[in-house]
Amino acid sequence: MPESAIMIENLRKTYAGQGGKPKEALKGIDLDVPAGSIFGLLGPNGAGKSTLINILAGLVIKTSGKVKIWGFDQDVNPRQSRAAIGVMPQEPNMDPFFTPRGALEVQAGLYGVPKSQRRTDEILEMIGLTEQAEAYARTLSGGMRRRLLLGKALVHRPQVLVLDEPTAGVDIELRQMLWNNVRRLNEDGMTIILTTHYLEEAQEMCDEIAIIHRGEKIVQDKTSALLGRLDGKTLVITTDGKGDCPPPEGVTLDRRPDGALAFSYKPSETSAGAILSAVHAAGLNVRDVKTEEPDLEDVFLSLTGS
Ligand SMILES: Nc1ncnc2c1ncn2[C@@H]1O[C@H](COP(=O)(O)OP(=O)(O)OP(=O)(O)O)[C@@H](O)[C@H]1O
Ligand SMILES: [Mg+2]
Repeated sequence: MPESAIMIENLRKTYAGQGGKPKEALKGIDLDVPAGSIFGLLGPNGAGKSTLINILAGLVIKTSGKVKIWGFDQDVNPRQSRAAIGVMPQEPNMDPFFTPRGALEVQAGLYGVPKSQRRTDEILEMIGLTEQAEAYARTLSGGMRRRLLLGKALVHRPQVLVLDEPTAGVDIELRQMLWNNVRRLNEDGMTIILTTHYLEEAQEMCDEIAIIHRGEKIVQDKTSALLGRLDGKTLVITTDGKGDCPPPEGVTLDRRPDGALAFSYKPSETSAGAILSAVHAAGLNVRDVKTEEPDLEDVFLSLTGS
């Protein structure tokens, strides 16, 4: 097993663009996705995430740079690098005349999977389309089509699975089914790369995260380390009565709509104990205490400013 599932060096993509103005979608990206991880690729609309993923999938031709998938250079070993990756694209590209079973069989054929090694029934079961196996794709609901896209990405048992916004616009049940499948596949050793605009999902699912913004990578780190970057917490204290309390130095105080006192502080400079002491010293009776920590959304906003 290679150390890196995906290795990208100085990747650039300039689209020709309509009306003559070229669009520089990727401006020299380096990316290293550890094998075995669940890796989040985040960024605002238009950041270049799908461009990057479509280059990995062989759907978009890069302008320059190096891409290695499971150790295989895309330009030197195109067949092996393509066999190592399965991509669930953001935009469904489905032939309405196939049934789910037919679509999976055709996809397996495209990847040269011999009939004896196909897992069509197993995949149909996994994506919850056993009952619809013989229905025409055009009669499937939007969510069912997305599930079929996931199935198609899996027919050749890729080492790396890439999901471009798998949960955009899907209901809670399908979202849970997707994440359960992703977790199971990852436990079985598959490396997962995903994009999502639901930062809570990324925070919960991903071991490591890269944020790209306007075609450039602005950060890549373990999820826990990213969350630790923001040195800020809030201590929310509910007191009896409406008494005030001067906050300790370096701490800002806001009053919440329900009357609770919200002390924002830097854990590196002030302890929660110092704030509680100040509250006691002000003669206030503490009824309830809770802390609020920064989440991925705060990190994202602080880095992308959007
Ligand atoms: N085929 C194309 N021709 C010209 N420009 C394109 C093409 N595809 C994408 N772009 C431009 O490249 C930039 C990056 O687009 P991309 O789809 O990679 O972003 P994204 O990060 O996936 O965004 P989203 O979160 O909205 O899916 C955008 O400015 C987009 O308009
Ligand atoms: Mg996209």
